[in-house]
Parts: sequence; structure tokens; C-alpha cells
Amino acid sequence: MILHKIFLIFLLRCTGLLSSDEFRTEFVLMRDGKKLAVDFYRSSTIEKLPAILEMTPYGRNLGFTFRGESEFWYRNGYIFVIADTRGTGDSEGDFEFFSEDGDDGFDLIEWIGKQPWSNGKVAMRGSSYSGTNQWYVAARKPKNLFCINPSATLGRPLDLPPYNNAFSLNWAFGWIAKSANLPNNSMKWINPDPSQWLKHRPLYTLDEFVTGRVLPLYRKFLQHPIIDSYWDLLVLKPDNYSQIDIPSLSFTGWFDGTMYGTIMHFKDISKHSPRKNDHFLIVGPYSHGNAPDGGLDFQTGKPIKHLGDLILEDNAFLPGLNMTKEFYDWCLKDGPRPSWKPAKVYITGTNAWREGSYFLTDNLEDKYLYLKSGNGAASIKGDGELDFDCPQYGSDSFEYNPDEPVKSDLSKNVVLPVDMNFYLNRSDFLVYTSQVVKQAFTIFGEVKLELTFSSSVRDTDFVAFLMDVDENNRSIKLGSKETFQLRTRYRYGFDKEVLMEPNKIYNLTIDMHEMGHTFLPGHRVRLAITSSFYPIISANLNTGNSIAFDMGPAIKCSQTIYHGMPSNGLTSRIHFKSNDLNKDCF
Ligand SMILES: *[C@@H]1O[C@H](CO)[C@@H](O)[C@H](O)[C@H]1NC(C)=O
Ligand SMILES: *[C@@H]1O[C@H](CO)[C@@H](O)[C@H](O)[C@H]1NC(C)=O
Ligand SMILES: *[C@@H]1O[C@H](CO)[C@@H](O)[C@H](O)[C@H]1NC(C)=O
Ligand SMILES: *[C@@H]1O[C@H](CO)[C@@H](O)[C@H](O)[C@H]1NC(C)=O
Ligand SMILES: *[C@@H]1O[C@H](CO)[C@@H](O)[C@H](O)[C@H]1NC(C)=O
Ligand SMILES: *[C@@H]1O[C@H](CO)[C@@H](O)[C@H](O)[C@H]1NC(C)=O
Repeated sequence: MILHKIFLIFLLRCTGLLSSDEFRTEFVLMRDGKKLAVDFYRSSTIEKLPAILEMTPYGRNLGFTFRGESEFWYRNGYIFVIADTRGTGDSEGDFEFFSEDGDDGFDLIEWIGKQPWSNGKVAMRGSSYSGTNQWYVAARKPKNLFCINPSATLGRPLDLPPYNNAFSLNWAFGWIAKSANLPNNSMKWINPDPSQWLKHRPLYTLDEFVTGRVLPLYRKFLQHPIIDSYWDLLVLKPDNYSQIDIPSLSFTGWFDGTMYGTIMHFKDISKHSPRKNDHFLIVGPYSHGNAPDGGLDFQTGKPIKHLGDLILEDNAFLPGLNMTKEFYDWCLKDGPRPSWKPAKVYITGTNAWREGSYFLTDNLEDKYLYLKSGNGAASIKGDGELDFDCPQYGSDSFEYNPDEPVKSDLSKNVVLPVDMNFYLNRSDFLVYTSQVVKQAFTIFGEVKLELTFSSSVRDTDFVAFLMDVDENNRSIKLGSKETFQLRTRYRYGFDKEVLMEPNKIYNLTIDMHEMGHTFLPGHRVRLAITSSFYPIISANLNTGNSIAFDMGPAIKCSQTIYHGMPSNGLTSRIHFKSNDLNKDCF
């Protein structure tokens, strides 16, 4: 694809369709004296055009623009400007994970506004990192910024990389040492096999063990294990959203690890922006990578029909790029306003779109499915159940050995809706399954797992999966993350660490973020709970020591989940929202 683009530019140049001065690199001065590298294409005519800015940490030269789209925008009368974020690629300064992007974006937009080829109107484009940073730029209110297109964005700090602070090792190395164009990143690692990482202590120096280099950003994340001032700088407050008086269009998917953040920004901007009704959100059955293109492969334009173990219907796909053009034509060229409703959300199972305002959560009721068991819920062979009625007192236990954690099968992308049966016969998984569904029902909105538990150690992890068991008994994983987990020291929030007294009973809530899914007749609801999923998350050594500097040794522990304790009001249950779930459903 990239070569194809280079060839195309070459061809256009040779045929005289594009004069040689149209592709330009410049170094743009920021307010603190650092220079950022930008590339852009400009028309050889004297016509002044609107511009689209992307700020990327992935290397502006790779394919020239967001997904090699520069030519598409060029043909449609836009100038695509792409910048290496500070400290990446050819840009000066240190990479600071978003905290400098707001000011840098503001300065870049000022610069674009002063160029002879600019008509003074600028939009932003990008997804993931280059989606997220648009919110920080927009909150600074550059006068030439007319709209943003922030897809697949991070939200709350601690979403990534230390997601809920059970540190996301696989992500941390994959991103810092490979994807991002940072100093010291490298495709060749000295110890690429995650099973060898397990014995390395402490976590803080694992970067050198794995890649052979010090990765300053990896270490910085580990130095900030709670939401402190480092992370708080990245939290947009209601006052920040209220500054954003321009439209936005965001795409995400139910299987996008950054779905939570994308929906969070949409909810907040729809609440606090002076232009509440000019924000659009699309949530399809998409992954992180294909959400911005409405589920289409951005290289071939074809629908990606197989997503994990799901096969999608034709109606799941949207022309994402064309919709973005329609949106820009409206806010940058005074074209007609898109006729879409603010929120457009695809419900899997029934495979139908819902459209409306805000996040469509009107008329939903709180519902609960309680965990219970007879002889015990350990493994798929146990008799764990999910039921509407709060059960009699009972409990289920399992052992967790940090030296032998559950190993995630890295040959499958487990952020996608994959069959989890491979794992469920392990005795360190508790498995709870409902009766067969008789009447279809839909869960929509936030899902939370409330657990009453005890552990024989002072700190440990709980990891949970929600699944739809189909007619063939495949346990298809639901939700936007590889796992939903909580390190127990954060059970009272991510701004403090509170250890436990061994064997004392506590409760915690695991946030499973939003879901939108219909359980069809013949299917069953299934929940699985364990304490590790390595190396998607680092194995908790159970010592309660500092996560970064713990030297071990790891402590084996025994975990107990309790059900039905009406005396103190605590029990274990899944809390979700639905408007069509009732006792006749099972
Ligand atoms: C790169 O790695 C070397 C060797 O581990 C380390 O000394 C240096 O600080 C790192 N530099 C940057 C900019 O990451
Ligand atoms: C939010 O607004 C305050 C006050 O203008 C500003 O200092 C802060 O940097 C903004 N936060 C973000 C994350 O942009
Ligand atoms: C996008 O629009 C172009 C021009 O109207 C059209 O040819 C193309 O088929 C559209 N793409 C999709 C995926 O609908
Ligand atoms: C669980 O099932 C997998 C795949 O079918 C098999 O390889 C593994 O040995 C089983 N483990 C147990 C504990 O039964
Ligand atoms: C699925 O599992 C249920 C309950 O364990 C069993 O009764 C049924 O025969 C299984 N169906 C298939 C297709 O394997
Ligand atoms: C624990 O349970 C109490 C009583 O139901 C509830 O108020 C509290 O929010 C729960 N705490 C957590 C962390 O889930």
C-alpha cells in the first residue's frame, strides 16, 4: 500500500499532474522553541483550501498520512498536513504521552492558518493516539479549528497502559517498543518469549530484559501507579469540554480496546459542549483498527466479515471515509449538515442498528444476574449458575499461583469476540452459566461485576470474562477489552492503594464498560472468573509490594467468591441494563 502510494506520486509527478513543489516537508516552530516535522501536499493552483491535520507518533512518513489517505483528500479539495508528535520521528523534544500535544496542536493550527495556501479552516483526523490528542487540542480552542474526528480514543488515564493497573505488559512492550516511533524502539528483542519474562524481577527493569534497551516511557508509567498529578493532567474536566464549541465525529467498536474512552468523550461533550447536538458517535461491531472505516478494510475497502469467531452481517458496515468527508464538507466547506442522529449503535445478536440522541440509554432498567453454585463452580465441569434470584449462602474457591498464571493464547486476538472454551476447563477458572434463553433479551450500556470475596493474601487480581454461549456451545467473549480486571489494592479507586487483611471478606466492582448485545433463544449467558491472564496482564505476585519494584518471591493464594449473604447486603452479581429482560426470558 505504502509503496503503491509512493509509486502513484512518482507517476503523477512524471506525468506533470503534480508539480514537484507540491509535496513539502517543513519544520514548524513551537512556542518553546522546539521544531516539529510536518509533511503536506498542496495544490499548485493559487486557490486557498481547508486543511486536515493529523498528529501521529507512528511516523509521518509511513504512507504519508492517516492510512495513506492524502491523495483522497487532495482530490476532494483538502490539504492533508501530517506532523510527527514531539519526540517522535523527526520532531524535536521529548515524547510525553499526550501532555504536550494540546499546545503543539494549537501552535500547528496557528501556523497552518497563516500559510498562503490555507483558507483558515482546519479540521483534525486520526484514530487511537492521533484520535485522542484531538480532544486536548480542541480543549485549547484554536480559532482556526472547525471540527474534529477523534476515533478509537483513550479516555480515563489508567485505561492504558496500566489498564486498571494490573499492568498490561503485552500492550506496553508492543506499543512503546514497536508501534510508536520513539527513540530506542526496535523490532528485534533480545528476549521475545513472554514465558521468560515471568521470572524477571523487578518489573521496572523488564524493558532491558525484553528489548535490550531502557524504555523511558515504560518506566514512567510504572513510576505512576495511581492517578496522581502526572495522570490528572490528562483528565478533561467539564470546564475543558465546555470550551469545545466545534462539531465532532467519532467511530469506535464493541471490540475496540479504546471503546470506553470514545464513548466517555462523546457522553461528556454531549453534556458540556455549547454545541451539544453537533457531536456524532458510531459504535459498530468493529475492532480498534477498522472502526474509523466503518468496519471496512482501509486498504481494500472490503468489509472485514470475520471478526474473531463472529461472522458479521452485511448491514454492519458503513462507508467510514465517505462519512468523514461528508462531515468535513459540512464544517469546512459549508456543505449540507449530515442527516445522521447523534448516536448510531449496532446491537450484536439481533444485528440491528439503533439511532438516537445522547447514548440511547433512556428507558433502561437496572438488572442483576446472581452467581450461585451447588457443589462448586470451579471449571466448566462445575455447576456454577447465573440466576435472577439472590441465592442461599454459598461460596466457590480456587487457587492462584503467580508462577503459573493462566497463559493467554497470543495466536488469537482476544480483544475480539473469540470462543473462550479453550480456557474454561482449568480448575483456576470459576464458571457460571445461565439457563437456556427462551425469549431474546438485550443488554445495553454499562456492565459491572460486583464481587464479594476473600483472599489469603494482602493484594491480588480478579479477572473476568462475559460470554454468550451459542447453540454449538462456543463461549463467545463479549466486551471491548481482552480482559476485565481489578487489582484488589484499587478496589476503593485508582487514586489510592489499600491492601487487605488476609481472609477477610471484602467487596469490589469490576467495570466491564459498555456492551450492546442480544442473547438469542437457545443461547446462554456465561461468566468466568480467574486471577491472571498473562502476558496480557502482568501476573500479580500477591505480595502487596510496589508493582514496579517487587522482587518477590511470589505467594500462592486461595481466592473465595461468596454468594447470597443477605445479612450484610453483599453478594456477587452482574449488574447491567436492559429494557426487555424479565423472568420469562430463561
Ligand atoms: C536508550 O537506551 C539506552 C541504553 O539502554 C539508555 O541509556 C538511554 O537512556 C535510552 N535513550 C532514550 C532516549 O530512550
Ligand atoms: C483544562 O482547562 C484548564 C484551565 O483552562 C487547563 O489548565 C488544563 O490544561 C485543561 N486540561 C486539559 C487536559 O486540557
Ligand atoms: C464513497 O463514495 C464514492 C464516491 O461517491 C463511491 O464511489 C464509493 O463507492 C463510496 N464508498 C463506499 C464504501 O460506500
Ligand atoms: C482443556 O482443554 C484443552 C483444549 O481442549 C486441553 O488442551 C487441555 O488439556 C484441557 N485441560 C484440562 C485441565 O482439562
Ligand atoms: C451443549 O452443552 C449442553 C449442556 O452442557 C449439552 O446439553 C448440549 O448437548 C451441548 N450441545 C452441543 C451442540 O454440544
Ligand atoms: C460494597 O458493597 C456496598 C454495599 O452494597 C456498596 O455500597 C459499595 O459500593 C460496594 N463497594 C464496592 C467497591 O463495590
